[in-house]
Amino acid sequence: MKSRMPGLCWLLFLCAAGAHAATSEAALQMYTRANHSLDGEWKVIVDPYENGYYNYRYEPYDQQPDPPVGAFFTDSKMKTPSELIEYDFDKAISLQVPGDWNSQDPKLYYYEGSVWYRRKFDAPAHGASDRVFVHFGAVNYRADVYLNGKKLGVHEGGFTPFHFEITGRLKDKGNSLILKVDNKRHADAVPTLNTDWWNYGGITRSVDLVVVPAVFVRDYQLALTSLEDREVAGSVLLDGAKGGETVTLSLPELNIRETRAVGADGRAAFRFRVPEAQLWSPRDPRLYRLVIATADDTLVDRVGLRSIATRGKRLLLNGEPLFLRGISIHEEYSAEGGGRVRNAQEAKQLLSWAKELGSNFVRLAHYPHNEHIVRLADEMGLLVWSEIPVYWTIDWNNEGTYRNAEDQLAAMIGRDRNRASIIIWSLANETPVSGARNRFLSRLAAKARTLDDSRLLSAAMEKHYRSDNPDVAVVEDPLADMVDLVSFNQYIGWYDGLPEKAERVRWEIPYDKPVFVSEFGGDARQGRHGDANAIWTEEYQEDLYLKTLPMLDRIDGYVGVSPWILADFRSPRRLLTGIQDEYNRKGVMSEKGVRKKAFFVLRDYYRRKAEGR
Ligand code: GCU
Repeated sequence: MKSRMPGLCWLLFLCAAGAHAATSEAALQMYTRANHSLDGEWKVIVDPYENGYYNYRYEPYDQQPDPPVGAFFTDSKMKTPSELIEYDFDKAISLQVPGDWNSQDPKLYYYEGSVWYRRKFDAPAHGASDRVFVHFGAVNYRADVYLNGKKLGVHEGGFTPFHFEITGRLKDKGNSLILKVDNKRHADAVPTLNTDWWNYGGITRSVDLVVVPAVFVRDYQLALTSLEDREVAGSVLLDGAKGGETVTLSLPELNIRETRAVGADGRAAFRFRVPEAQLWSPRDPRLYRLVIATADDTLVDRVGLRSIATRGKRLLLNGEPLFLRGISIHEEYSAEGGGRVRNAQEAKQLLSWAKELGSNFVRLAHYPHNEHIVRLADEMGLLVWSEIPVYWTIDWNNEGTYRNAEDQLAAMIGRDRNRASIIIWSLANETPVSGARNRFLSRLAAKARTLDDSRLLSAAMEKHYRSDNPDVAVVEDPLADMVDLVSFNQYIGWYDGLPEKAERVRWEIPYDKPVFVSEFGGDARQGRHGDANAIWTEEYQEDLYLKTLPMLDRIDGYVGVSPWILADFRSPRRLLTGIQDEYNRKGVMSEKGVRKKAFFVLRDYYRRKAEGR
């Protein structure tokens, strides 16, 4: 992965400080802890030339042993009336955290560059032997993080959590936490330069201080491993343990209380049976209280127990055939002009709209969504497809790009592998077939299976037509051999002919695996009406749905669909004035949540599916 700090010493420093250590560093489960929130108003300085990071010779200030006052991360104040300092966070403008900058300040709507964020805070109450972490839900895209003028590290990847331990680095009062947030796009990044979504920059998810004892419950994993025997297996990781410390894992409602001693690596394994457990499903999203306790620490969570599997072309949830009544969703809530989802209320609104459709499944495109969404899916009974932004034309030959993708995969799985709602990890979206791409994704698939072998792998592939018959659509991709669910996006009626083409096309998908249609759709400006052959109207989109759905029902092995997309969303690629106005209009709802005619076609289809018709 690219770092602006050449020289082994700095790289070692970064690794030591926790930067780029995502894959080797276990997740920090903190969502259910009583954390100290740093959300709210942060002071910001917009710095397009990164004047606070580089000197006039374009040398990074933070590679100097003693950075000058001109380095913004020193948060310097004048000490004499004549001292020259050309910035002042106290006088700067403010932005809300969490939140992207694009939708908070009209001057930042199109901005791609660096913004400095500063939050002053007093040390949270903590004992002499306690440990303190600073945890970021996500920052898009690159974060250089400093505390009291000292660099904590760097994180790349706009949609996954990261943290740094700051034990012993805090003052009682007036600590200065500063980030340089840079959302510039790069060809070797993940995602790469070109995406069909808005490049929202900023500290887009919550920031928390986490205070824990010297030995604490850092991470755990728990899953049903045998449906027949109702067997559960898992492990707990104690951070700071020397080995021999005891940890107790309880599911009180199931009369489970197991105590183990951890090994020298801080880990303890558990395996037990839960014959009375009610299995988690969309119809009955039963969650159980989980308590993991040591002498000094207790972590409480809520978990569901369920089994997801494939058998030939069948998809099985808890041993029963499953049809995925899905909808694709971007993590954007524009109803009040916003951008990235900022809180649980907005997350719940999106998922409630999906439930109104009759969905039992959401495809969270094209990156890991915030933790509110996946936890609400657990509560609301929505199955989930979760994905890393290996999207379109990634730099397949670049080892740093691969490591970035793997870091994001590990962070996604590390954060969410205990969410019963998540049944599919998706590795990629619409990536062009090549040897380099196949090798990249094959490595990623193998890594995903070592991180979590309890879920299905998939990825949206593309289709092509048989050369000897333009009415036979084929899904054939080496990626299909690497995954459990053959998924593909198809746009007959939009990018590919007119809707009536769906009435004559048949599909060849030569795999003994379930088939999932991960996208189809067409744009409609909500409120624009006309004949069914008039593009951009609700009637055109409605007709496209009416003609597509029966075609999908004819596919052998068809186990579900997630039409593109729940709600219109911002995209810099959608520039048709008066129609798109920088929105992709394939939503079955407008960005304000106003339903279009296609919404009702899909809802009726899902009602019939739910009744087994
Ligand atoms: C692609 C892609 C989406 C995109 C959509 C569209 O399939 O997966 O991210 O927004 O098509 O073109 O609207």
